[in-house]
Amino acid sequence: MNRTVNTNELEAKKQLDIINELKERFDDEFRRTGIRKTYHIVTFGCQMNSRDSEKISGILKQIGYVETDTEDADFLLYNTCTVRENANNRVYGRLGHAGTIKKGRPGMLIALCGCMMQEPTAVEKIKRQFPFVDIIFGTHNIFKLAELIKIRLENEEKSNRQEEHMVIDIWKGTDLIVENLPNDRKYPFKAGVNIIYGCNNFCSYCIVPYVRGRERSRNMDDILDEITCLANDGVKEVMLLGQNVNSYGKDLDPPKSFAKLLLEVEKIDGIERIRFMTSHPKDLSQELIDVMGASKKLCNHLHLPLQSGSTRLLKIMNRKYTKEYYLDLVSRIRRAVPDIALTTDIIVGFPGETEEDFLETIDVVKKVGFDNAFTFLYSKRTGTPAAAMPDQVEESVARERFDRLLEVVQESALRRSKRYENTVQRVLVEEVNEQNNNLLTGRLGSNMLVHFEGDSSLVGSIIPVYLKESKGFYYIGTRV
Ligand code: 5AD
Ligand code: SF4
Repeated sequence: MNRTVNTNELEAKKQLDIINELKERFDDEFRRTGIRKTYHIVTFGCQMNSRDSEKISGILKQIGYVETDTEDADFLLYNTCTVRENANNRVYGRLGHAGTIKKGRPGMLIALCGCMMQEPTAVEKIKRQFPFVDIIFGTHNIFKLAELIKIRLENEEKSNRQEEHMVIDIWKGTDLIVENLPNDRKYPFKAGVNIIYGCNNFCSYCIVPYVRGRERSRNMDDILDEITCLANDGVKEVMLLGQNVNSYGKDLDPPKSFAKLLLEVEKIDGIERIRFMTSHPKDLSQELIDVMGASKKLCNHLHLPLQSGSTRLLKIMNRKYTKEYYLDLVSRIRRAVPDIALTTDIIVGFPGETEEDFLETIDVVKKVGFDNAFTFLYSKRTGTPAAAMPDQVEESVARERFDRLLEVVQESALRRSKRYENTVQRVLVEEVNEQNNNLLTGRLGSNMLVHFEGDSSLVGSIIPVYLKESKGFYYIGTRV
């Protein structure tokens, strides 16, 4: 057994002891008052953050908190994102509101975590402008939440000065992966599973490698054990998560590959659908394409961020592929999985982007025919190489390009979605519509949503649905 695993087990035991200690305290309080403390989590950003919020939720529930759907809760947590500047501004806005709630709610705890907390300037600003915040932690030490709550409660016992209550614990980086802590999941029938943390790519516009640290793969056995338990618990669909899943296993001893991991996940009984997110084009191997072609369980959807169609800009973005490579990759993927739905991320207005560069992006979007694309206006992130580059594009120019791109993306999405009109497809039923209880929402393998009439007892099952009409980003269907 290597050192990391030892530390991991010791740390997990320590945290479980603290969780139990707090649980006894909360149970005691419940016996006295008959009231359970409530919690609410607001999650910003990507799938990685959503998964982290489930882990946080697992710890809070184990302590004895019950979930509530309003921010007027005993424990309110913002799990933040910082990939673009406006994500930070939204958190500051929400914090003002949280402060007002806290004034009318004695004993309320407000916590902040996630990528934005890895930025010292953001934390300094929060300490100055929002001194009522109780706990701040980062992306590397989520597993410590119970310990941080305990310290916060002890601080209050030691001093009645609010400025001495705040607990801040942010790690710059870590090799530590703590397994086997309490867990939660939003849906009983589908689950996200982390396979690799962090990112080594340092795309020149991106702050993620600075706030999520270097790549760390989980042991393959831990991942497979987790998915087997999920399958035994009724999960039918898993989404394997990582900033760059294609790098999975390169850091393990002996090294493993993402394609091999998929082959193992495929063998797990009960798992009917497998997805993964996100893939860096430069690391998407032919081995993986072959596995995608042969797999019975992999969904026919691939998210393959393009960022730009201009080889010149891709070089400055440090993406390490060219326009031609991307187009060739797409044709190889389509040869293996002809029906694949391709989605992408595109940045508009990267420093130095000319009209010619932008037209190259439009050209790729037209040639590939994406099923959908997330389009972003470039946002300057302090500390990234792109922030210091000359020729920052004027906002009005970027916005105008953004609108043109959106039009092409929408056309492409509508055209692609027409291919399933008047066909029957298998759909995982996910939700009952909140306003109309006879209306269900499900998801195709291609990731598109379908709305159709049906009974709530169908939620969680995979059933055939006739797709009557495409609305571009969703279908109207009927049961068959
Ligand atoms: N500005 C705009 N978009 C960005 N992304 C990452 N960093 C930035 C930035 N500074 C986008 C990329 C990435 C997605 C998650 O966010 O397209 O794929
Ligand atoms: Fe950011 Fe690039 Fe890593 Fe994606 S691959 S998280 S865009 S640095």
